[in-house]
Amino acid sequence: MATLTETLVDADELNDNSFQTKDIQFHDLPTPQEYDIPFPPPSVNPTEILEVDKGTPDSHVPRDPRLIRLTGVHPFNVEPPLTALYKEGFLTSPELFYVRNHGPVPQVRDEDIPDWELSIEGLVENPMKLSFRDILQKYVQITNPITLVCAGNRRKEQNTVRKSKGFSWGPAGLSTALWTGPMMADILRSAKPLRRAKYVCMEGADKLPNGYYGTSVKLNWAMDFNRGIMLAHKMNGENLRPDHGRPLRAVVPGQIGGRSVKWLKKLIVTETPSDNWYHIYDNRVLPTMVSPEMASQDDNWWTDERYAIYDLNVNSVAAFPEHEEILDLATAGLTYTARGYAYAGGGRRITRVEISLDKGKSWRLAKIEYAEDKYREFEGDLFGGKVDMWKRESCFCWSFWSLQIPVFDLENSSALLVRAMDDGMMTQPRDMYWSVLGMMNNPWFRIAITKEGNRLKFEHPTHPAKAGGWMEKAKKAGGDLTNGNWGERLEGEAPVELEPVKVINMKKEGLNRMLDLQELNANSSAEKPWFVVNGEVYDGTGFLDGHPGGAISITSQAGLDVSEDFLAIHSETAKLMMPDYHIGTLDKASLESLKKTSTTVSNDSRPTFLQSRSWTRMKLSKVKTVSWDTRIFVFDLEHENQSLGLPIGQHLMIKVPDPTTKEAIIRSYTPISETNMQGKMELLVKIYFPTENILGGKMTMALDTLAIGAEIDCKGPTGRFEYLGNGRVIISGKERKVRSFKMICGGTGITPIFQVLRAVMQDPQDPTTCVVLDGNRLEEDILCRAALDAFVNIGNRKCTVVHTLSRASERWVGRRGRISEDLIKEYVTCEEDSMVIICGPEAMEKSARKILLEQGWAESDLHFF
Ligand code: MTE
Repeated sequence: MATLTETLVDADELNDNSFQTKDIQFHDLPTPQEYDIPFPPPSVNPTEILEVDKGTPDSHVPRDPRLIRLTGVHPFNVEPPLTALYKEGFLTSPELFYVRNHGPVPQVRDEDIPDWELSIEGLVENPMKLSFRDILQKYVQITNPITLVCAGNRRKEQNTVRKSKGFSWGPAGLSTALWTGPMMADILRSAKPLRRAKYVCMEGADKLPNGYYGTSVKLNWAMDFNRGIMLAHKMNGENLRPDHGRPLRAVVPGQIGGRSVKWLKKLIVTETPSDNWYHIYDNRVLPTMVSPEMASQDDNWWTDERYAIYDLNVNSVAAFPEHEEILDLATAGLTYTARGYAYAGGGRRITRVEISLDKGKSWRLAKIEYAEDKYREFEGDLFGGKVDMWKRESCFCWSFWSLQIPVFDLENSSALLVRAMDDGMMTQPRDMYWSVLGMMNNPWFRIAITKEGNRLKFEHPTHPAKAGGWMEKAKKAGGDLTNGNWGERLEGEAPVELEPVKVINMKKEGLNRMLDLQELNANSSAEKPWFVVNGEVYDGTGFLDGHPGGAISITSQAGLDVSEDFLAIHSETAKLMMPDYHIGTLDKASLESLKKTSTTVSNDSRPTFLQSRSWTRMKLSKVKTVSWDTRIFVFDLEHENQSLGLPIGQHLMIKVPDPTTKEAIIRSYTPISETNMQGKMELLVKIYFPTENILGGKMTMALDTLAIGAEIDCKGPTGRFEYLGNGRVIISGKERKVRSFKMICGGTGITPIFQVLRAVMQDPQDPTTCVVLDGNRLEEDILCRAALDAFVNIGNRKCTVVHTLSRASERWVGRRGRISEDLIKEYVTCEEDSMVIICGPEAMEKSARKILLEQGWAESDLHFF
């Protein structure tokens, strides 16, 4: 049989250091017809670093922009669009192959690859360290097609039923490639495992918050030829790409992708399963009754090996009809071909795929194409490795199914259901098995069909990136997604109440006073600021001193309907205070005419941009990347000669629509640009990306998705504090004089503090002294550092800056830990004519207040932004 090695990169090229950068030219290969096996689709290795990745720890990894990011920008967890994945065919090109990275991609230089070291240790007679070179030269290389599937594939469906602890994967968390490398068994055998050895633990080079990524499989599986566990250095004939484990990874066929450790550094043979954090707290299906709270309270749930996932379960999905596909009945043919994929675990073969159009009462048998079997007929070398699938019966890959359905039948159905069965006669369940990590989701895949006039509309359960899908719709309509009827209400079934949204009563009990517009207008002054929320009138007079945003936050709203802003920015606690200020209900006609007047006003020729009573628009003109999660957003005001109009120490409100729900998000910010800057405003923002356990910051993520040219609404100024210069401060309308400022800030809390500090430092006549305690996690988190250091270096002793880091690296020579009592005692001693100004996370502000009061500071000397 002919071999393909002559056109390909192989182990002999190891003496040539450039081997890692060589790409396969697929047009050089024999055509698929010459060898009746599926060949990789045409592939273009991305060379450009995407803008979003610049400034992240992965700024060295070129990527394909088509991939759908599931956890914000970083870490990189992506799936391809389902249709694009399916259209690639049996093998997926590396640039579209799904990626699951728990953290940053290790940076590996080409020239270091030949010396990449893999150590084989633990219960072996012959512990050893193999170089990448050894691995390629000393062991038989094989090339086999293997599908990898993330255990979270289809998790968005679980999350729609009930939020799990994992992020939302759509149905494309899987891909297939031809992998080349040695069998893991051959390598383990040369290290001679001891008799009592039972497991092989693997460890990668990616350092994560809980140690290096690692997991284990059973030793006897690794040694079992039929399980095909291998190490790989090539994917579709190309050297591995950084996201997929370059230069070396494990590939464990038939098991969840989580076991296929990338950037492989260690194989440790042990008596017990891996004690790696990621082995224990990831990749498990806990019993369905275990809630997230129960799981976090009792560690036994996580250490019980019975709940660990190894083999994949049987699963199937329809790629066609696509999500939101429209079938025009006027032009459709007589039949429609539904198509999709199916896979099973542990080397089992998919033995049937069935389609139902009548809620599972009857089923039709789909045709299945086992492209993988083509490789069993091929005996030879491919990409420098032997294809030895002919020796195995195990199935390591997905198969494609298809079924021609009369369009008439689709027209008369409300949903298309798909289920597969494997050769162990295991089939997919009708109902979802929800579990705390949301893994192994495999209920029947359902595509809803709705007839709209002469068209059929198809809807998948969810979409990985977009809102919508039939599950969300059914839930919103009060359907119970677990009722065995896909959330569609059964006859006589009562609607399910949506998750209770806490409604807080903001009205005074027993108050029946009706007010009209005339009365409202008569009481709409700075002294008597009445305002309207949800048609109810409130008198803010009694809260002018107490409002955290300063009296202006209320007086500027006098006489307006402020429902949208009020409800978007106020906490439950604030809302609970409202009955005390409630004075009556505005009559309907007055309310309607009031609403008409409360709209955005803008006048191009105004010298000052900010208006306290109405929203005005500024345009995003530039985004500067400060670090992977921090940006400076530059906005253009209405004209070049306009100033923002923000007094020093005050803030402005920003309103941006949520990119998905379109609801208004409103937050208060202090810009970093100088207050007298003309025509522009610069905002320093740290983007809070979602992680597996934490939802991202709504506003910061919305800002991050703004395109250049997009407009945002602003209103202001707000705030109780203002610095007039020369030690003159206005607090809640009263002026006082200070000789020194003690400034305490955490993270982005630096922004309002920085405005005041800069004002003091830039005025050589201003005698005020400043001490800044700035708390951050890592050194790279310190914002405005250069400017802060420059203030200190002015050398007139006006300014002291102390940075403290809670997660400092070894080389950090500054203070360590959070802003503590000791640090406050040392630098924030109670003095006459001094003020402490504080801005940071709530917990920091709370503990600082307690410490400061204990040290003798008066409440009136503290100001929290
Ligand atoms: N290996 C390391 N070192 N670090 C990781 O984050 N993720 C695992 C596995 N191996 C991971 C890893 C998970 S959960 C999956 S699903 C697969 O890699 C994904 O492989 P891929 O990114 O090449 O598709």
